[in-house]
Amino acid sequence: MKITVAGTGYVGLTTGVCLAEIGHHVTCIDIQEEKISLLQAGLSPIYEPRLKPLLIKNLSSGRLDFTTNPQYAYSDAEIIFIAVGTPENDDGTANLDDVFAVARSIALNIENDVLICTKSTVPVGTNDRIKHLVHCEKPPNVHVEVASNPEFLREGSAIFDFFHGDRIVIGASHPQVAAVLEQIYLPLKIPIIKTDIRSAEMIKYVSNAFLATKISFINEIAFICEQVGANVEEVAYGVGQDKRIGHRFLRAGIGYGGSCFPKDTKALVQLSGNVKHKFELLEAVIKVNNRQQTIAVTKVKGAVGHLRGKKVALMGLSFKPNTDDVREAPSLTIIRELLEEGAVITAYDPVALTNAQLVLGDTIEYTTEIRVALTNAEIAIIATEWDEIVQLPLNTYVEYMKEAVIMDGRNCYPLEEVQKYPITYLSIGRPMIT
Ligand code: UGA
Repeated sequence: MKITVAGTGYVGLTTGVCLAEIGHHVTCIDIQEEKISLLQAGLSPIYEPRLKPLLIKNLSSGRLDFTTNPQYAYSDAEIIFIAVGTPENDDGTANLDDVFAVARSIALNIENDVLICTKSTVPVGTNDRIKHLVHCEKPPNVHVEVASNPEFLREGSAIFDFFHGDRIVIGASHPQVAAVLEQIYLPLKIPIIKTDIRSAEMIKYVSNAFLATKISFINEIAFICEQVGANVEEVAYGVGQDKRIGHRFLRAGIGYGGSCFPKDTKALVQLSGNVKHKFELLEAVIKVNNRQQTIAVTKVKGAVGHLRGKKVALMGLSFKPNTDDVREAPSLTIIRELLEEGAVITAYDPVALTNAQLVLGDTIEYTTEIRVALTNAEIAIIATEWDEIVQLPLNTYVEYMKEAVIMDGRNCYPLEEVQKYPITYLSIGRPMIT
């Protein structure tokens, strides 16, 4: 199969590289020339574990290439995946400009029959709009089909998820169209769910909204646990043992971030508004998450009083470990609040400094050395559970900080361990240790 993937963000790039790895000939196209030049040289513009070796391997085998030329990418492709971003508009709706720009470019450049398959997260009905747009602008002798194939890759484990996903969802209007896509994924041995296009579009939003709901739910429970003297970790374990509930996404913390949950929950609220339904439950999920991102600073202020002039070590900038992505990261909210309070911040992160600097500029100090961030700090706030932080011996805080006050926003350390050290320790949904 000759496959083209439009968009080389983490979804498009992972998909392209992995499709090449399972034997397909893949061309990835992007409008950003710098990105394409990097990729042609075997360099990844994003930090994603295991991506680089697969990129280099498939580039040199000749099964994978990169271009900015739509004629080259689209003219003789058999399948084209649209994997461009759908960022949030000011009103919370998904911005589909890039999706439609790609659809138009496909229509203007195809010369053979083709299946266009949408991987981007798009509101229900978008594939019908893509189909209409392409049909209006394509050459008359070319046959075009459209399908929805949402992705469930997590940043930081996208390569693993491609090969070991729980399911592949294919939304198509004819069984023959679904069968073409099924063939592509056959080597993966992952269960395939075939459905109609609108249901496939819905499955993506509902999956993310449900996971976000689990997180906000456990964060509410964490708050109650603190008030009644329970431990949210123990509670989540006991509850998660029920297979109907499960353990995953029940980790209490300073809220979810990233390019997906915040955007997709808002888009689903908007979508329900379009059909005159007020999605009150999901609105509450979003509200709880916004509050949760501010909880670290509230707690620290409660423990130490004012923050003016205090030296804070901000541990972890990315929205979660194993990625350099800081989009909607709780760390950014925390930093903005700390700055408003007059704190002086040194932030540690192993890979996300460049992206964070683009947002925060020189308002804070940056370091890739944990000990540099901790030196003489009066407060440490853990925002991301990087291995480097989880595995940091607790006596490092005692040794390097002026006063060992830790606000652990990701519950990285067992309370029994913390108790052994002269540390003031605040976490989420667990008793405070002084
Ligand atoms: C999420 C979904 O998990 C993927 O299936 C989906 O494909 C992707 O969005 C997308 O739509 O593209 P991702 O945003 O990469 O993936 O990250 P997650 O691992 O889901 O974590 C999201 C946020 O939730 C992080 O900030 C994380 O710290 C937080 N989280 C996660 C918690 O606070 N508690 C948990 O128990 C789990």
